[in-house]
Amino acid sequence: MASIPLRLRDHSYDVLIGPGVRTSLAEVVGRLGARRAVVVSARPREWVPDTGVETLLLPARDGERDKTLTTVEALCGEFVRFGLTRSDLVVSCGGGTTTDVVGLAAALYHRGVTVVHLPTTLLAQVDASVGGKTAVNLPAGKNLVGAYWQPGAVLCDTDYLSTLPRREMLNGYGEIARAHFIGAPDLRSLPLADQIAASVRLKARIVEVDERDSGLRHILNYGHTLGHALERATGFALRHGEAVAIGTVFAGRLAGALGRIDRARVAEHQDVVRSYGLPAALPAETESATLIRLMRHDKKAIGGLAFVLDGPNGAELVDDVPHETVEHVLDGMPRMPLGELVDEAVPAATTDTARP
Ligand SMILES: NC(=O)c1ccc[n+]([C@@H]2O[C@H](COP(=O)([O-])OP(=O)(O)OC[C@H]3O[C@@H](n4cnc5c(N)ncnc54)[C@H](O)[C@@H]3O)[C@@H](O)[C@H]2O)c1
Repeated sequence: MASIPLRLRDHSYDVLIGPGVRTSLAEVVGRLGARRAVVVSARPREWVPDTGVETLLLPARDGERDKTLTTVEALCGEFVRFGLTRSDLVVSCGGGTTTDVVGLAAALYHRGVTVVHLPTTLLAQVDASVGGKTAVNLPAGKNLVGAYWQPGAVLCDTDYLSTLPRREMLNGYGEIARAHFIGAPDLRSLPLADQIAASVRLKARIVEVDERDSGLRHILNYGHTLGHALERATGFALRHGEAVAIGTVFAGRLAGALGRIDRARVAEHQDVVRSYGLPAALPAETESATLIRLMRHDKKAIGGLAFVLDGPNGAELVDDVPHETVEHVLDGMPRMPLGELVDEAVPAATTDTARP
């Protein structure tokens, strides 16, 4: 088991990673001093570990459809009916959509109660549950309402991943692949639990420096500018991690075109993405002009086109990248029909730590 500390000025917590770590929940709840708990779980009842205290179990559903203010309000209503106090605790158990919505409910209830996350997807273990960002969607867009609310602990039980469909594994691998270019060592040959631990360690170090996303934390968005545009252009037919993987290959080519990295490093982007079994080509159905229009609306862009790009000093935010260069690099990317692009992705490394 790995235990990774995340130390902030006024709050610190540990992220535990490995098979069976969910059974530490009662100990964690005891240490956090709660006397009652509400567990909001998108997984079957038997997947939820004992909390060691009086507990209300609320069933939930993963998915963007329920990641709304309506769900937050419904959860807070249940917290009131149960009599949850400020010194009690909320537990989330599910994918990143569930950790996000439960995290926001915990941030708002009584102006903040402790939350412990039990992420059950690879994406939620390496990214969504760590770092304190919580959010819900509005009809106008994703993650438009949220708060920073750091958890009291995160338990990444790799046994949860044994039932995860292949594309959901790839979804998480997209974030692991991008870690290669923002300071993680080469994780390709490591067992899954070690890949998760290294990705979490990297994210923890970045969040410790820039909790509120005002500088360094931007680098976590490596590959995401095109990634977000691809998700939207394909009507979310590409999973987030798949889109980020293609965005990572593009970011390498763009950094090469701008003379920031050499040809070998550009090629490394494609190699890393492919070796995780992720797609590396653009969907043939998407036009460069559409992608550029969508990228102009990226939240990092203040006016022009902005990307996190590799370079002599490592990854950094680069503003005002010329339109023509972006268009030229997009036009030079390999293209493949969307259906083939996703089918063609080979299974990622085996979930060695995952048990049925
Ligand atoms: N807060 C953050 O910092 C942050 C970072 C990255 C992503 N996110 C958010 O995370 C969300 C995406 O998370 P996600 O990819 O986990 O999506 P998700 O929560 O929708 O889960 C994906 C799918 O996996 C299924 N699933 C979950 N665990 C399973 C298991 N153990 N076995 C089998 N199936 C399982 C779910 O039912 C769902 O169908 C997005 O809403 C995104 O905005 C947040």
